[in-house]
Amino acid sequence: MSPARGSLLGIEHLDAAEILRILKFARRMNPDKPRPLLKGKRVVLLFYEASTRTRSSFEIAAKSMGAHTVLIQAAGSSIEKGESLLDTGYTLRAVGADVIVIRHPNAGAPHVMARHIDVPVINAGDGLHEHPSQALLDAYTILHNKRKFQGLQVAIIGDIFHSRVARSACHLLSKFGVKVILCGPPELVPDIAATLAPGLRVTRHLEDALRGSDVVMLLRVQKERLSGLKIDLADYIARYQMTLTRLKMAKKDAIVMHPGPIIRGLELTSEVADGVLSRILEEVKNGVPTRMAILARAVGKMR
Ligand code: NCD
Repeated sequence: MSPARGSLLGIEHLDAAEILRILKFARRMNPDKPRPLLKGKRVVLLFYEASTRTRSSFEIAAKSMGAHTVLIQAAGSSIEKGESLLDTGYTLRAVGADVIVIRHPNAGAPHVMARHIDVPVINAGDGLHEHPSQALLDAYTILHNKRKFQGLQVAIIGDIFHSRVARSACHLLSKFGVKVILCGPPELVPDIAATLAPGLRVTRHLEDALRGSDVVMLLRVQKERLSGLKIDLADYIARYQMTLTRLKMAKKDAIVMHPGPIIRGLELTSEVADGVLSRILEEVKNGVPTRMAILARAVGKMR
């Protein structure tokens, strides 16, 4: 079965026109004056992994448009008893779910769900694979601050290997011809990362990534996924931590982005996180109208 219309499984196979359509609709969404586009719909938030921003903003977005939401987390549900992903999906369809928002530690889990269950599925992060709603809210934030994609240079710094946020962002930015420079040590940014999408480049040198960049996107070092990798955090901080002094190497009006959760003192200092160039909380805020658009699209109301 092909995924139900309105599913959002990744950015890789979404064309530029559809991305712009979602972003344009998101700009019209106001969580304080929402239209009841999801009135009476049941949105299930199925979270097999921890989440703060993604979960709360999907929930607020759905509720503000009149949906009922049900949160299911691995702990405390039948998942704990060993129920399979698909049996959980069939159960959710049987109770009348209209949309399933899923976060799962395995890459491809939302795709499996979407192939077997005729309910729109939204990927809220699958393993190391994709995080499409985050890429869309980041694009929304970039466009809000920089007006257009043309001519932009984006530096993405940190744990790119473990980052579904980076993967989705690379796919999206590449579709609009943005120059993307990936920066970090080889354990976190393998050379092969440059082959993910056209227009990507890898560098080990922070200065090389920052020079001429309009956007500095920082990523968390995902310590929980680092087993087996030799990463010396003190060395990482010495070479890659974003400080106000280092940030001066980027364009004067460069903005700082980070999908969160941020770890102050590791990938960035508090001065950068709370500084005038930081758009970190703006990204969180933009997550709500962006997810309103994604949910409206899921139920065929993105018109
Ligand atoms: C991230 C994720 O879960 O992929 N956060 C998010 O959804 N905003 C990134 C992370 O955990 O570092």
